[in-house]
Amino acid sequence: MSTALITGASSGIGKDLAVALAARGYELILVARRKDRLADLAKELKSAHGVGVTVYAMDLAKPGASAQLEKQVLADGHSVDVLVNNAGFGTGTRVVNENRAAVAEEIQLNVGTLVDLTIAFLPGMVKRKSGAVVNIASTASYQPVPGMAVYAATKSFVRSFTEALWGEVPAGVKVFAVSPGATATEFFDVSGVHKFGSLASTSEVTEVILAGLDSAKPAPSVIVGARNRIMARISRIVPRTMAIKVAGSMFLPKN
Ligand SMILES: NC(=O)c1ccc[n+]([C@@H]2O[C@H](COP(=O)([O-])OP(=O)(O)OC[C@H]3O[C@@H](n4cnc5c(N)ncnc54)[C@H](OP(=O)(O)O)[C@@H]3O)[C@@H](O)[C@H]2O)c1
Repeated sequence: MSTALITGASSGIGKDLAVALAARGYELILVARRKDRLADLAKELKSAHGVGVTVYAMDLAKPGASAQLEKQVLADGHSVDVLVNNAGFGTGTRVVNENRAAVAEEIQLNVGTLVDLTIAFLPGMVKRKSGAVVNIASTASYQPVPGMAVYAATKSFVRSFTEALWGEVPAGVKVFAVSPGATATEFFDVSGVHKFGSLASTSEVTEVILAGLDSAKPAPSVIVGARNRIMARISRIVPRTMAIKVAGSMFLPKN
């Protein structure tokens, strides 16, 4: 039986993926801060699918949290076959108005914790010659985004790091980044960024993740949705100044 560790499983994409993996018979390790939500989800998944679900309520934006999580996972006798680095949040304002403490947490969670958990659990996968690391990036990783400069930079890091890692791992170990576009989750409430256009459903993101897990050698990076794939391609071929201005016209606060 495979075990999947999902960070940020108390809502949105992480929660939807937890439901899908439980339906496939995965044992689950679910991590987020809101213990009540994780406990309710664990109860639901155990009763619906008969799978083992372990919950760790932790603030992964705290330095050292990833090492503490690894320690608890090992102490409880788990081995992680699939690591999904999904927990993340965005801050949506001009850099001059950013809250420095919030930005430090954003970088720690989106980047620092993701890298450290990867380094913690990848060696076991390499040793077993099987396993998967799935890192959730964003379409914001494809161009700088005025109005979400820090968030977009963290997601560029995630994608670059993941694609490089794809080129390092041996056969049998899968590594890929998934870049959703705007998706209907609590992300916009947390970031304060206004919702725009039509939002994808979390199940569309889950389908892409499952397809990657099912593939013998997933692509290093996959974008969710045909429109987002076209936009990402366009942002790579137009002049950089134009890509930045277009992104700014969508996200830059008016004041
Ligand atoms: N929704 C979108 O439009 C969109 C687009 C592209 C990429 N993404 C990415 O998708 C991922 C999932 O986000 P989502 O859209 O599903 O948003 P969400 O509904 O807000 O979910 C975020 C998850 O991360 C957890 N989390 C946040 N801060 C945490 C912390 N300090 N410690 C531990 N867990 C923490 C949250 O749980 P607690 O609050 O309980 O801790 C929650 O489970 C993120 O990496 C996000 O950047 C989202």
